[in-house]
Amino acid sequence: MSETVVPRILVFDSGVGGLSVAARVHEKLPDASIIYLADNAAFPYGGQPESVVIERCCALIVTALEQFPCDVVVIACNTASTVVLPSLRSLVDVPVVGVVPAVKPAAAQTLNHRIGLLATPATVRRLYLDQLVREFATGCQVERVGHPGLVQWAENLVRGVSVPQDELDVAVASLRDAGVDTVVLGCTHYPLLLDSLRQSLPDVKFWVDSGEAIARRVSSLLVEAGLAGKSSGCGHASEVAALFSGNVPEGIVDFMMTQGLPQPEAKGNWPGSLPDRGDI
Ligand code: DGL
Repeated sequence: MSETVVPRILVFDSGVGGLSVAARVHEKLPDASIIYLADNAAFPYGGQPESVVIERCCALIVTALEQFPCDVVVIACNTASTVVLPSLRSLVDVPVVGVVPAVKPAAAQTLNHRIGLLATPATVRRLYLDQLVREFATGCQVERVGHPGLVQWAENLVRGVSVPQDELDVAVASLRDAGVDTVVLGCTHYPLLLDSLRQSLPDVKFWVDSGEAIARRVSSLLVEAGLAGKSSGCGHASEVAALFSGNVPEGIVDFMMTQGLPQPEAKGNWPGSLPDRGDI
């Protein structure tokens, strides 16, 4: 009888936003196990210096891989992906997939050449974003909004606190004024706010995020490694664990299940204290 291989994927974010990516990965690869790791003790990354994001992200992921060897790491956080990928790739020996604000697909979809870009305050400031816009969206008017409230509103959804619609209307007013027909969700927390965003911007035709593209990339990496599809139909249930560097968010188990993920085992204050790694 051939051996069943169950791939395992580490999905990392500062908080619950990466669940919007984990859910797409699970849809594409329902037999894979997922370790979800959130550095919520340092949330929000959008307000942290780059050096802190790099250090914490690398230390937590290296430690997680020691305890839970994985086949692919997904940095399901735009804010971290813009700064951490080179350091992390030099420390781990599995493929690392980062998230890029979906400027290129948005530029391909817009009909009126007016695009809104919603991201964290840190991401909208990064030169990396200027390069993406120059490379893929020349000829488009790109209106950027880096609002500090949106990530927290997404986090609050987990414990059943609804989005303050009036404040969201104000936060995205410049996108309404610019008449954008396409909005890039350049932060993985924002797909969780989509219903409220649609209410604030009813004229927007295309909402673009990176979740499905990431899921396809993870799947093709697993295929290349000979790991995808092997467990399909063998009766293996995928396992999902959720590790938080701070407290386990109230309501997280139910919330993950509403996102279509299997019931996770959740652990807080993981791994105890942030390991001091001289190699980072
Ligand atoms: N989910 C993260 C992102 O995609 C960021 C949230 C934060 O500021 O921590 O950028």
